Amino acid sequence: MTRALGPRASLWHSNAGGGWLVLVACWAPIVGLWIVWLAAKLCAFATGGVVMSFGADFAIALARGQTNVTWPGTSTPLVLLTLVLLITALAMGVWRVWRRIAERFPQPGDPVAALADNPGLAVLGPDATADKAIALRRSLTKAARERLMPDDIGLVLGNALLPGDRSGPTLFASFEDTVVAFMAPRSGKTTTQSVPHVLSAPGPVIATSNKADLWSAIATVRAERTGGKIWLFDPQHVTYQPQAWWWNPLAGLSTVEDAHRLAGHFVLTVDDGQKKDLWGPAAQDLLCALFLAAANSGRSLHHVAQWLDEPAVPTPIELLQEAGFQLMASSLKGTQNGAVETRDGIYQTARTAAKALRDQEILAWVTPDRGLPVFDPDAFATSCDTLYLLSKSLSAAAPLIAALTDTTMRAAERRAEQAGGRLDPPLIVALDEAANICRIADLPQLYSHLGSRGIIPVTILQSYEQGVTVWGEPGMAALWGAATRKVIGAGIDSPRLVRDLATLIGQHDVPIRSITYTDGRTSEQISLRRQEILEAADIRALPTGTALLLATGTRPALIRLRPWYSGPHAAAIKQAIKTADTAIADAARRHYHRDDHPPMP
Ligand SMILES: Nc1ncnc2c1ncn2[C@@H]1O[C@H](COP(=O)(O)OP(=O)(O)O)[C@@H](O)[C@H]1O
Ligand SMILES: [Mg+2]
Repeated sequence: MTRALGPRASLWHSNAGGGWLVLVACWAPIVGLWIVWLAAKLCAFATGGVVMSFGADFAIALARGQTNVTWPGTSTPLVLLTLVLLITALAMGVWRVWRRIAERFPQPGDPVAALADNPGLAVLGPDATADKAIALRRSLTKAARERLMPDDIGLVLGNALLPGDRSGPTLFASFEDTVVAFMAPRSGKTTTQSVPHVLSAPGPVIATSNKADLWSAIATVRAERTGGKIWLFDPQHVTYQPQAWWWNPLAGLSTVEDAHRLAGHFVLTVDDGQKKDLWGPAAQDLLCALFLAAANSGRSLHHVAQWLDEPAVPTPIELLQEAGFQLMASSLKGTQNGAVETRDGIYQTARTAAKALRDQEILAWVTPDRGLPVFDPDAFATSCDTLYLLSKSLSAAAPLIAALTDTTMRAAERRAEQAGGRLDPPLIVALDEAANICRIADLPQLYSHLGSRGIIPVTILQSYEQGVTVWGEPGMAALWGAATRKVIGAGIDSPRLVRDLATLIGQHDVPIRSITYTDGRTSEQISLRRQEILEAADIRALPTGTALLLATGTRPALIRLRPWYSGPHAAAIKQAIKTADTAIADAARRHYHRDDHPPMP
């Protein structure tokens, strides 16, 4: 990091230097003597002795070592001990005051000071956010701003970072913002983003995760706070909890567009880029036709799985014709009767995309079974419930997580339209590990209007490139552009992103002092150098717990993130984690015994 020395005039080279030296030399002995006298006075006060009055006689007597004259009747070792304590306390006090003063006068070139000097941040502060919440949320119209709790007005992003490692005001994302966060693994995605946002949400929440940590930490704590239900979607036994409900992806699937969207979630998870490019669109059309045939004939995803294994069976074509989807029927007929290599390529890609439908344990969550209650996205949108969608990274269940998230968001959008435009309380969609387990194809496009519907997406990625692998360059650029709050945390190793961020953060003038020695004389010049407030290397090395915040309409800010373990619910969450971890361990043991596998160590 390039740091300027600053323009401070050196004491030795200025005219004032000598004067200060004389002043200090004159006063130091007097102050020192007075401290000794004060120590003696304190001891005398405590032991009932007396002390000479402070003055020249005291100094002379002390210099001669006549302690029986300076403090008769008071123990000299006690005076010395008091003196040491007094000097220590005084030094600590002076140091603290000096630190406080120094903090107020940061070094020239200090990026924290440069970014903290930003009046535009007021629009992210508590007052402006509360005003916005009152304007956005019908239920708060009559509320007094001062009485609103932080949870009612927005999502806490962190605190502005001030010079001297101090924290400034709390900064929020309002309930019409859209958020994207980038952080490396173990840099606080779950602890500073998912957990606090899900916990503070005043309404329904969709939260994705590839680990049990989110559910363990807050499922019960949040349910107790809001009284809402916990909907845990865990087909891969991340938590080993039993299935308590099911969801029908085919429910209400009556248009080609809806079926196409559902098929898109499956195709987007095909890892083989070449195959995806070549056969992806046709595989999506095929899945679309099969979903539509099943949905409109009272069949389930079981049948779709069967039809995928039998490319020649005419049943889905007949069902589409019966349901009035003539064009889809002829499209499917064309696929089935096409060249064998083409047909096999399309069917094989569709089977790869829909591998979830060949896994009985995953299929159980999306096909009617065992009299379990069915999840209703419409009812969810107006509840205070929480939908936890768990799946191991890049697993077969990922398309179902994306589909369930998408369906629920669209149900919420419909509700918002019926409620006059906005959902109140808003729906928070915390997509942790979005690129691995919740690939929604048109998420970048959704970003441009979700906020205005009271649906607040928080997409959490490990890096910009991770987003590019899912949505492509234009898609990721659209997501970046449409997110009104961008949080860039620790461990960003993308050279392009850090360079771009350095440019976006901007430059400032830094005074540079240079000293030259010629002919035994020194001379000092101060010049201004224009340099980046934060260089790319500084951004890459942002410490864990801090982040850059790029908010629309204001200059970038450095913030201190607020992990749950330093928040007000830390004790309750720690207890919940303990209980949940025990429950997971017990359930895992039962699971392995049931399957006749050796128990976990
Ligand atoms: N209760 C806790 N107290 C202190 N540190 C914690 C606690 N829980 C997690 N951490 C630390 O917080 C860091 C970020 O964790 P996490 O948010 O889970 O990372 P990720 O970005 O992979 O989601 C990790 O280094 C972890 O050790
Ligand atoms: Mg995590």
